[in-house]
Amino acid sequence: MDFLQYKNGRLFADDIAIAELAKQYGTPLYLYSKNSITQQFLAFAKALNHRKHLICYAVKANSNLAILHLLAKLGSGFDIVSQGELERVLVAGADPKKVVFSGVAKSVAEIERALQVDIKCFNVESEAELERINQIAGRLNKIAAISLRINPDVDAKTHPYISTGLRENKFGISYQLAESVYQRADRLPNIKIVGIDCHIGSQLTQLSPYMDAADRILALVAKLYADNITIEHIDFGGGLGVCYDNEEPPTPAELIAVLEDRLKHFFNDNPNIDGKKIEILIEPGRSIVANAGLLVTKVEYLKHQEDNHFAIVDAGMNDLIRPALYQAWMRILPEKEAEQEPAKSTAKESTSRHLYNVVGPICESSDILGEKRDLDLSEGDLLVVCSAGAYGFSMASNYNSQPRPAEVMLLDDKKHKLIRERESFTQLWQGETIL
Ligand code: LLP
Repeated sequence: MDFLQYKNGRLFADDIAIAELAKQYGTPLYLYSKNSITQQFLAFAKALNHRKHLICYAVKANSNLAILHLLAKLGSGFDIVSQGELERVLVAGADPKKVVFSGVAKSVAEIERALQVDIKCFNVESEAELERINQIAGRLNKIAAISLRINPDVDAKTHPYISTGLRENKFGISYQLAESVYQRADRLPNIKIVGIDCHIGSQLTQLSPYMDAADRILALVAKLYADNITIEHIDFGGGLGVCYDNEEPPTPAELIAVLEDRLKHFFNDNPNIDGKKIEILIEPGRSIVANAGLLVTKVEYLKHQEDNHFAIVDAGMNDLIRPALYQAWMRILPEKEAEQEPAKSTAKESTSRHLYNVVGPICESSDILGEKRDLDLSEGDLLVVCSAGAYGFSMASNYNSQPRPAEVMLLDDKKHKLIRERESFTQLWQGETIL
């Protein structure tokens, strides 16, 4: 997170004092660096430059309109999983022709809306969905462009909750059945096959699962061409991991180089397939926004009991659920830089420095942002949870009737802009009625 630096003992993001931002906008507060998001997107774009390609940002990672708008301006397409996400990208100015629609439970209304606005394609996750899309397209007098999401049955070597490419996962069409489902799709009157797709999981820190999946997908493409089924694009999904602690995930360039190597061999071995015409799609979410985002929170109380030291802060699992849900480790930095360990002889006994459990206001024992963090704290201090740009706000809830935090984008020249207001109390019961 190179946009984050201590200067004279205080933490700055994109050269703006975090304490000032917290004062102006309140806490808990999400901050995003526009430069950092832009750089990550451009890293993918540059790596794919030599190929016909489309980067479809996975909206679920962070669906704030300002982020979608920024990415749309940079030329991004979008991977969506609901009508809500579709409406968001349309409002943010996305070109529907750059939108792919994933998700296992697309409803009739969602399919109708996507057909009406003419999205790029549906990533179909089951044979039943294929039949439904064909039927709806027929009724609307449309031809639906589809790609089958293949479950390649590879181990993504990530947390089980965010692994999606194993046979037992609910996602995609099994590798073994894929060819026959393509043949079925080819016979359906209101379906046009345009692609093939896979997504094997999230927070992937190794290249090997990608290579295994790519090999399987490409072998299937060869079979399809042998069956006289042609495609326009191959979508390798998202999933590239980021560094939260000491992980060393591949860079976008390293990932794309490996895929490129596979593609080069594949097109050489299959001269009947014109590699220049095949568009390459990817669906990164986390790797574009995670390390561009921070959650700023304030210490409400310190509580010391026997061996337990709690820093009770104003952000909780309602604001950022990743640690509670996936036991995810996320870096927590004090806004005031920790002093260097004083030499033993001169060390004055510090009563506020402990291994703290950083916990939130929610009435759940799992409401923990970080465990055993070495911090020197006082009431009112600010803490910054790093790498919170992905699956932070987008997974936030109003549990315990907590209004969701404000979101602010850090711009160039030390400017910043509120991109979502803190929720008000009346918004909490909007739409509700008493008997
Ligand atoms: N494409 C599809 C079809 C997906 O399901 C996902 C993420 C992505 C792309 C983007 O994956 P990414 O590049 O962000 O890894 N809430 C979890 C992550 C869930 C990911 C769900 N699918 C977390 O906080 O770790």
